[in-house]
Amino acid sequence: MNGHRKMSGNEKKPRILIIHGPNLNMLGQREATWYGTATLEEIDTEIKQTAQDCGMVAETFQSNYEGALVEKIHEAMKAYDALIINPAAYTHTSVAIRDALLMLDVPIIEVHLSNIYRREPFRHKSLMADVVKARIAGFGKNGYLMAVRAAADMVRREFRD
Ligand code: DQA
Repeated sequence: MNGHRKMSGNEKKPRILIIHGPNLNMLGQREATWYGTATLEEIDTEIKQTAQDCGMVAETFQSNYEGALVEKIHEAMKAYDALIINPAAYTHTSVAIRDALLMLDVPIIEVHLSNIYRREPFRHKSLMADVVKARIAGFGKNGYLMAVRAAADMVRREFRD
């Protein structure tokens, strides 16, 4: 099981990591038609509140650098019970992030603010799609909140392949 933490009884609350990829720090100033008007800080606040409502603790992380994202995923191997990731543009290009995700044995949910299938053909391909447990796209920031609730359910049930 790669030593990941298992939730049981009255132990500490499950921990969930949310990773945001490149350019997502610019939310609020970036293509509002696709991404909405909320800033990343506002979204992260809602994510943490939703996680708390579900009895979990959420940590959020954003980077514009592929290597930093890979290293954060490595950290998730030991410290978290579930991972939510929006790899942003790296969704379509990054074998390094795909390979890092392959090492995790906790539930992974891929989130996209926009419905990538309504957009340019190069966005239709996700290198993560067959590695993750589930995917949510096209619900804007609500997609993250849906993913947090789903992750809580997965962790609670230890619903893993
Ligand atoms: C995105 C979709 C990607 O194609 C794009 O490069 C992003 C954001 C989304 O959340 O809709 O930066 O992942």
